[in-house]
Amino acid sequence: MEKMVKTFPQHKCNWLKGRFAFYKYQEFWNIQEFLEGGILAQQSFKARPSDVFLCSAPKTGTTWLKALAFAILTRHQYDESTSPLLKTMPNECIPLLEKDLEQVEDNHKNSCFPLVGTHLPYSSLPESILTSNCKIVYIYRNIKDVIVSHYHFLREAAKLPMEDAPFEEAFDEFCEGKSWCGPYWDHILGYWKARLERPEIILFLKYEDMRKDPTSNVKRLAEFIGYPFTIEEEKAGVIESIIKMCSFENLSNLEVNKYGKHRAKESNIAIENRHFFRKAKDGDWENYFTNEMIENVDKLIDQKLSATDLVLK
Ligand code: A3P
Repeated sequence: MEKMVKTFPQHKCNWLKGRFAFYKYQEFWNIQEFLEGGILAQQSFKARPSDVFLCSAPKTGTTWLKALAFAILTRHQYDESTSPLLKTMPNECIPLLEKDLEQVEDNHKNSCFPLVGTHLPYSSLPESILTSNCKIVYIYRNIKDVIVSHYHFLREAAKLPMEDAPFEEAFDEFCEGKSWCGPYWDHILGYWKARLERPEIILFLKYEDMRKDPTSNVKRLAEFIGYPFTIEEEKAGVIESIIKMCSFENLSNLEVNKYGKHRAKESNIAIENRHFFRKAKDGDWENYFTNEMIENVDKLIDQKLSATDLVLK
């Protein structure tokens, strides 16, 4: 697999001093480890109809979505003082299809835990997910904030200070479509088109909407994944407790997320948990973008996504 991936078109990120490379497969760029796992999943993964996939491009709110879905699903086993989310970072509570295939398959054998994460584009999902009519939740986010979040995450992963990682270059590469699981707009478009055809099995959630109105979005999420809140639960404030437990303020201040490491055993992709909890500020892009950048991104969105009803500027 490693040899095969090395034959794919390669892009070395110049702004990261070549410390990161993406490989192009089925029209999307990915890092080697995740691409190998994605291809393996395409070849062998057998979805269960009850599986629920939490899909996203990186840096669009995956960690938050995973925390919320996990808390919703496990709320009868744990409360906000006993939840595994207090000791384990959300990305480790829910396996990623392209990295944790064994764990997903173990869950199939040993439990009825239905949640699986993936950054794979819709067109690269293993066939069995589509033929089994598995439910899909897709989270997306304002492209400008994704560009900034993506910049910092990869920069931290490459252990480069901002002075050595020019934002302008990172911006240009992202807008050329060369980002992790990019082109970002094509990632969104793939799921968006699929939702048009199969609205009953694909739920779209927007990061910014979830920030503005977490209660109704958490309710939608719970209903969609088949774990709706009862009226009694609503009255007892269960939704608000889940939102509070999964809030950026709470999760980012937990010991595990401040000092722990994600994928600690795999030295080439290990990364400190705190890098998944940077700022969570809507509109942080204003601190980075020049007027020309704003114009270029807006044009790009008009060109690529004008056929959708999505607001991404
Ligand atoms: P910023 O880099 O803008 O701060 P992903 O989980 O897909 O990698 O996305 C990471 C982004 O989500 C980061 O954005 C991070 O701060 C933000 N984030 C992480 N946990 C969050 C939470 N509980 N609520 C809101 N945003 C969160």
